[in-house]
Amino acid sequence: MLIRSSDSGRIHPVPSEITPREVFTGRRDLLRQVAAGAAGLTLASWAARDARAQMPRPGVLAALPATPSGLAGAQVIDKPTSYKDATTYNNFYEFGTDKSDPARLAHTLKTRPWSVEIDGLVKKPGRYGLEDLLKWSAMEERIYRLRCVEGWSMVIPWVGYSLSELIRRVEPQPSARYVEFYTQADRTTMPGLRSSIIDWPYVEGLRMDEAQHPLTLLAFGMYGEVLPNQNGAPLRLVVPWKYGFKSAKSLVRIRFVDKQPVSSWEKSAPQEYGFYSNVNPLVDHPRWSQANERRIGEDGLLAKRRKTLMFNGYEPQVGSLYAGMDLKKFF
Ligand code: MTE
Repeated sequence: MLIRSSDSGRIHPVPSEITPREVFTGRRDLLRQVAAGAAGLTLASWAARDARAQMPRPGVLAALPATPSGLAGAQVIDKPTSYKDATTYNNFYEFGTDKSDPARLAHTLKTRPWSVEIDGLVKKPGRYGLEDLLKWSAMEERIYRLRCVEGWSMVIPWVGYSLSELIRRVEPQPSARYVEFYTQADRTTMPGLRSSIIDWPYVEGLRMDEAQHPLTLLAFGMYGEVLPNQNGAPLRLVVPWKYGFKSAKSLVRIRFVDKQPVSSWEKSAPQEYGFYSNVNPLVDHPRWSQANERRIGEDGLLAKRRKTLMFNGYEPQVGSLYAGMDLKKFF
């Protein structure tokens, strides 16, 4: 993000490249929900089902089945970004700074065996294996907007469960006020580590109540499949009301602390990146207006920029976390 990226790396999808091996049929979801006795389907969830019905499972990686989340805000009704766009236009600086680098280079990332160290102010610290973490809660599909600080956005159907489920299991101590996330930093497989734009490893942090908010997702998959390497396999964070850089990829350590962590971007450029980094159209980044955004996939001369929404559209769910705070100061 310190380096202005051009769109040169973008590859546009052609419909024939997306294999409609299995379609997320709205009908099957509906039958399942009716069978489960789910009543009171809202208009939003109908629309979300429509969006899903248009979205074929790409059939590239192993399937990761999930049930549509019933959580408010977890079924954005915007049309999902194509799998092709979501997996070829990425920010994953461990594999280079160009948007096309991760898709080209992240095949070297070794995602098995994988474990996550959980430490700090927690009653059940330890090194937890990926296979265990996959079983800690039921997988949900959540369609979230992802808004990057650079001024573009996507809509992605993630698969995972609330980070709060993990937090509950490991039992943080009462003194834990923040959570710090560390991601994989392996010089032998990540060519981007040769660059010094970041003091590796990539580190992010959340306040405890943000980390425990049900919308904060521990994602293991997207589009009904396990995560592609370039999107942060085998597990990452997705914090939908914050700029995309808060959603750390390829997590290897989760630490509970009592002091506000310093994230990698804050360390590199404190005047540009704050700890909170909530999506806010009223507070510009020094180099990018945050008032509007380009939706990836909406191209052409007539494509309009969209207005950026406060908290990326999740204000009803998360606004109260910041009541009384000066969001210009705590950017
Ligand atoms: N996590 C790590 N480890 N390294 C990164 O460079 N980039 C962040 C975030 N997580 C990044 C990361 C940024 S800037 C964005 S916008 C999102 O990942 C992009 O996620 P996506 O490529 O899956 O769309």
